[in-house]
Formats: sequence, structure tokens, C-alpha cells
Amino acid sequence: MWFLAFLTSLLGLSAVFTLAAHQQGLFDLYRNAPSSAHSMKPSSWRDTQTPFKLASFDPDSFKPFGQLSALSDEFTTLTHPAFPKFSVRVKKSDFCDDTVAAYTGYIDIEARHLFFYFFESRNDPTKDDVVLWTNGGPGASATVGLLMEHGPCRVVNSTATKFHPESWNSNANIFFIDQPIGVGFSYAEYGETVSTTEQAAVDIAAFVAIFFEHFNQFKNRGFHMAGESYGSRYLPLFASAVYDQNAKLLEVGMTPINLSSIMMDIRYLPLLRTSEDKRLTSPRSTCVRMKQAVPRCQKLLQASCIDVFDMIGCYEAMTICEMELRAPLMASGKTSRAIRTIFDRDAGGRCYPIRNVIDEYLAQPSLRKTLGVDPAVTANRSISSDLVGHMFNDAGDTLHTSYDHVAALLERDVSVLMYVGTYDWICNWLGNERWVGALEWSGRGQWEENEERGWMVDGKEAGKTRSAGKLTWATIYGAGHMAPYDKPKESLEMVNRWLAGEDL
Ligand SMILES: *[C@@H]1O[C@H](CO)[C@@H](O)[C@H](O)[C@H]1NC(C)=O
Ligand SMILES: *[C@@H]1O[C@H](CO)[C@@H](O)[C@H](O)[C@H]1NC(C)=O
Ligand SMILES: *[C@@H]1O[C@H](CO)[C@@H](O)[C@H](O)[C@H]1NC(C)=O
Repeated sequence: MWFLAFLTSLLGLSAVFTLAAHQQGLFDLYRNAPSSAHSMKPSSWRDTQTPFKLASFDPDSFKPFGQLSALSDEFTTLTHPAFPKFSVRVKKSDFCDDTVAAYTGYIDIEARHLFFYFFESRNDPTKDDVVLWTNGGPGASATVGLLMEHGPCRVVNSTATKFHPESWNSNANIFFIDQPIGVGFSYAEYGETVSTTEQAAVDIAAFVAIFFEHFNQFKNRGFHMAGESYGSRYLPLFASAVYDQNAKLLEVGMTPINLSSIMMDIRYLPLLRTSEDKRLTSPRSTCVRMKQAVPRCQKLLQASCIDVFDMIGCYEAMTICEMELRAPLMASGKTSRAIRTIFDRDAGGRCYPIRNVIDEYLAQPSLRKTLGVDPAVTANRSISSDLVGHMFNDAGDTLHTSYDHVAALLERDVSVLMYVGTYDWICNWLGNERWVGALEWSGRGQWEENEERGWMVDGKEAGKTRSAGKLTWATIYGAGHMAPYDKPKESLEMVNRWLAGEDL
């Protein structure tokens, strides 16, 4: 059971699709990535595991900034003696939502600079929880979440946005982070790059600590980390980094982050195991062939990705699995409803044309000025960076899953919400359901006993849900890969109930 879940989540991750300009398989991306594209060798897997230590400091040497509202529309730079390599530039920005205060800025880590947006809650910014949102990719900008899915405004055309009533800041203060560097308005000097989730996680955890120490109004506030797609690789590691960092914060007399939950879906390919899968492929011969390929694929992945991590062997295994298990599903695109719903939105394979409008909108010089985009970011940045995708592939990040991290978070009382649109193919609900069901954790028995039920919005069933302990699973009927774009009302209801600690 565990094995199946691990295997299929690898396959799911290999579908480097979401926001990459070309729909290539993982191996294509790997093979095509010119090594000269990297001004620096990606760090090896092991390099990224080095635990960092907080600097000890004299508590009197630190003075918190105080209230966010005291910031001006010029950048203020914040530092913290426990994090000598980090600082935060932040300013008030009149942007996107004129009913609340908005802030933008950079997390500066020596030569690396991560851009973020922060919006106060429309309800009660002084009491509501804090959510941190990141998109997936790897390489997708958080402006996808912000300007098309569930942010306080949505782009209308290349110069305008409109108020979004179903924004996730309805009951939460929310960060949107362009990460890792190279994504959105984030940048680096001296050709520095980040190519693994482990590296990215340290930066995010440090940022959260510095922010909460300075703006102490947020101390102890419930903190949730949310995203979608490749976010399912990021978030469990980010949350683990925040969790581990908490112990270090305590050691030096700082306040730990009240890490409450993660919310995500998994990029994941279904295996042919239940009757529902019949909906996903049509010709019988294809089904038979796929079924035969499953044990071979499992064996190869077990040998090269799990028993031993051999990057070349693992890529090879992945290629075979891709060819035998993903390609036929892609090819059957016109025959299955689940796939057609997504792919027919535009013939070029870019499922959501509104994404192009976001690129144009963000290219406006006046907007960049409002946001405080650093002059070092000269080029127009697409909402998805192929280069970052390549680098994560090269570094093998896309070959690893966050499976064990999710289980470990559950054991540490961090809640996990897995949500998925029923028309999403990349993060398809069949695969996600199996992944969740196969998680090895102490609530597994309870999970198996508990029944799935419908969850309702305005008296209508909006999807199915199932829970055990800290784990909740939910589908959203009729939503594709960008669930909050397709089903804004249902997505917001789900998030509101989740943040309020209610059952869906
Ligand atoms: C964008 O939309 C706004 C508001 O609807 C409108 O005033 C403006 O003329 C539009 N701009 C373009 C370039 O279409
Ligand atoms: C942590 O946040 C949750 C809300 O997510 C809240 O119920 C709880 O009281 C908070 N814990 C502390 C120590 O403030
Ligand atoms: C950035 O995009 C805008 C609008 O799409 C275009 O006018 C401008 O020439 C582009 N700038 C660069 C440096 O490519």
C-alpha cells in the first residue's frame, strides 16, 4: 500500500505540466535542459541537509518594529540578530484590494531575494489566522494564486484588476510568495540559484520567524501553509522547516510559530485499480497494456528510486513509467470527460488563457513601481519559469516526494487538508484519494473506519469529504487544476471552515 502511494506520487510529480510553457514529460525536461543554463552547479542533495543554527544574541539588542500599519510606502528594512544572514524589506503598497492594507517586499538572504505580497484580512486582521500561499511548478509564480485564483483581486485585462469577493483574505491575513528565486519578481545576484525544496524551505522558515518577531501582533496566531500542485512537494517540507525551527527559536528565547495546518493537492497519476479508472482510458488494448506495465514500473522505481536513490536509474525508471502509464492517458484526452474538461479549454495546451493576461499586467512599469519591484528585475517575468523547473529536475528534486513529511506532520498535530477538483487531471482525485488512504500514520485505522460524506454549500453538495484526526480530504465538484478559479465560492467555503476549525 505504502509502496503504491510512493510510486504513484513519483509519477504524479513527474508530470511537469502545470505551468511549464511546453507540455513535456519529466525526462524530456531533464534531457533538454542545457547545462550551460546554470550559472552555478545545483547543490547536491546532501548539501541541502545541513541543519542551520540560530545565532545567539542579547535579547536587549532586538527591538521589534511593532505594528504593520506603521510602515510607509517606502521600504523599511528589518533584521534580527538570530538570523544575521537574513533581512526583510517591506512597504505599504496600494494594490489589488482597497478595502484592506496591502504590503509587498523582499526577503533578502545574502544574494537571494524573494518577493512577497501580504494582504490583511477583510474580517479582523487583529485576530484572524495567517495563511502563506505558494504556487507549484516548480517555477510558478504566486501571482497565479493571487491574480487569478483566490487573491483579493483578479486581472481583467493588461492594465486592470477587479475586486474578488471570494478571496481567501475574507477571514485570514495572507502572504503570496514568489519562490524559489528566479520565479516572479524574485531574483538573485552572482548567478545564485536554488534548486531543491530543502534549500527553499530554510529561507521561508527564517522569513516567517523574522516577520512574526517584528510584527508581534501576529505572534501565536494560527499559521497555515497552502498551495497546489508542486506545492505538495514544497509545503510539507516548508512546514517541517518551520516546525524544526520552532525548537531553535525557543532555545534563543524567541516565540515559536503556531503552525496549524497545510493545505494542498498532490500531482499524481492514478493506477488502474478500481472501476472508476475505466473512465480515464477508452481502448481496451490500452488498458491492458497499462495494466501490464504497472508491475514493471513499480519494480524499476523500487530498485532505483526507493531502495537506493540512483538518479540516472531513477530517471530511466520514470521515463518508462511515463511512457507506459502517462502517455496513453494523455493520448486518450478526447475520450474521457475528466481529461476533456481540462484540455479543451484551449487548443494550445495552456488550459487557462487568463494566465497570459497576468504576464501582461505584471509587465506594466507603473505597477512595478507601486509594488517596489527591484530594478535588478529587468526582464519581463513570465508567471512560470522554465529555468527553475529545469534546475529542480536536474537536482533531482522532482524525483522525491514529501510523503513521509506529511505523515510526520500529522503525528506532530499539524492538520492536513488535501483538496482536489474532480475535473483536475494532473492532481486527479482518484490518485489523491489513494495517496491519502495509503498514508502511514497513527490515524490510519480511524481513517479506514470513517465514511466519506458529501459536504454542502448553500444546500447543494459541493464535493465529498472524509476525515480522521488531523487529516481531512475533500473533493470539489466541477473544479479543474486551478480549483479556486473554477469554483471560487466552494473553495472559499472550504477554506473558511478549515480555518475556523469546523468540519467541512
Ligand atoms: C481594462 O479594463 C478597464 C476596466 O474595465 C478599462 O477601463 C480599460 O479601458 C481596459 N483596458 C484595456 C487596455 O482594455
Ligand atoms: C494557535 O492557533 C490556533 C488557531 O489555528 C488557536 O486555536 C490556538 O489558540 C493558537 N495557539 C496559541 C498558543 O495561541
Ligand atoms: C515587457 O512586456 C511589455 C508588454 O507586454 C512590452 O511592451 C515590453 O516591451 C516588454 N519588455 C521587455 C524588456 O521585454
